[in-house]
Amino acid sequence: MAHWTLQASDVASALALLLALLLALSAATRASALSRWLRLRRLAKALPGPTDTLPICGDGISLRGAPITALRRLYHKHGTPCRVWVGPRVYVLLSHPEHARLVLSTGAHVDRDDYIMEVLRPLTGNGLLASRGDVWRSRRRLLSRVYKTQWLQEQYAWLQKAAETLVSSMRPLWGDEASAAGAEQETLGHLAACTLDQVAGSVVGRSLLAGGADGVGFVKDYMRAVQTLHARVMNPFLLVTPIFKLSSLGREQAKLANSMHQFIDHSVEKMKKLPSEESESCDSEASTGGRLPGSALEALLELTQDRRLLREEIATLLLAGQDTTATAICFALQLLALHPEIQEEAAWDEALQERVVRETLRLFPPSPLLSRELTADVQLPATDDHGPLVLPAGSSAVVCALFLHRDPAIWDEPHAFRPDRFLPEACKERHPFAYLPFGGGPRSCIGSKYAQMQMRAVLSKVLPAFRVTTTATREDLEDLKMGMVITPKNGFNLRYEPRG
Ligand code: HEM
Repeated sequence: MAHWTLQASDVASALALLLALLLALSAATRASALSRWLRLRRLAKALPGPTDTLPICGDGISLRGAPITALRRLYHKHGTPCRVWVGPRVYVLLSHPEHARLVLSTGAHVDRDDYIMEVLRPLTGNGLLASRGDVWRSRRRLLSRVYKTQWLQEQYAWLQKAAETLVSSMRPLWGDEASAAGAEQETLGHLAACTLDQVAGSVVGRSLLAGGADGVGFVKDYMRAVQTLHARVMNPFLLVTPIFKLSSLGREQAKLANSMHQFIDHSVEKMKKLPSEESESCDSEASTGGRLPGSALEALLELTQDRRLLREEIATLLLAGQDTTATAICFALQLLALHPEIQEEAAWDEALQERVVRETLRLFPPSPLLSRELTADVQLPATDDHGPLVLPAGSSAVVCALFLHRDPAIWDEPHAFRPDRFLPEACKERHPFAYLPFGGGPRSCIGSKYAQMQMRAVLSKVLPAFRVTTTATREDLEDLKMGMVITPKNGFNLRYEPRG
């Protein structure tokens, strides 16, 4: 039998060989990454757009401070598509419906490329909004089994009830004295509490405002956590994750995230303990001791017991569905205050309320930028403005709903507030990707129908109770800032006069 003894020289040769292999592999990887980048650079150069790199780019256009203004200038100067460099990354801004369709409708490019995902991750982990690739696919499949038409319809009564609570809380605050004195009220905070309660009721099956110290504590932590998200988005330095983690804001957010996650875990445990027969027989909130029947969590627990997944998806649904809807309702009230004739009619006409919702989301889509990382080239057909173009693999396409929704080629008098654009006959000829407040294709908003129901529920309760007026102008409303969602720089300020 042969005996093998390992000599020091053998070990050295093996290590040298391994090192050589690793170096060769890394050189090959770098070479192919370099050749991909050079290709991207070459193809990107052929696209229209400024030559300089943002944030300090040609014609004084800067992304720092006022991104909406910068985007508007780029759009007016270069039209669509418009390629911009941000550091070494290439973004292509698009606002043509056919371009939007080519990018969004295919299942090929499903990963988003925007800072919002990174910013949300400490709170939502791999939840639907911030996940990528196969993780996203499996999560989406799971949640799609819950957000179905019948479940949505069952939620409407609860959404209206939460809106009634909002109106009752507004009466003593904004009743006769305040309105007689002509005081305008900051509205977003109240709407934010209402939409959080709506979403929490539907997702975890309990009203957070209806009582319970832990619920009230959660609302406080949640609201502060949303403020930390906005504060981070507004400060470019804090978008760098290691800097954020070390900052006082980052440390505060980590604590808030921890307490929110504990609350969610606790809600999951409580729901698990509830015997299933009891939950099946529940048909009213009263019979469940304050628990609302038919929540998304109840349905999710039938499909999975994965604690982390449940925590991430519940946090995602709360965050994705609360701020966006609250902002959209505020924009609707503000527009109605500027158009009293439409408001008077809408106060009693639910079909018109629905059109108001859609027209508001056209003029002010709360999340106006839809980004996708392009994993393969996208061929854009020639239009009146340019010949055929290629969006290269490795760049990021950003569909700008704000401009698409105001394109005069699609919308008559695009800046005018005209809810009747959404009468069924007026929509017939419209391109399916001309209206994208909820994005489009396989990665579009999973809560789009639910959100419109939330908005309708609130309008159907607030408008018959109050006449809404404002001293703000339409120009004030157009002066937008961009945080997690767009909002007017001066906030939403409205006067509420109780109707007789
Ligand atoms: C007016 C209110 C809302 C607006 C304007 C809005 C808008 C959007 C937009 C633009 C996207 C990205 C779509 C894309 O990239 O193509 C999105 C994604 C998402 N939204 Fe909404 N949303 C609203 C309300 C809600 C509600 C109420 C929920 C759930 C309760 C929700 C849950 C989500 C989730 C989970 C995603 C990620 C979907 C995915 O990546 O697969 N949203 N939303």
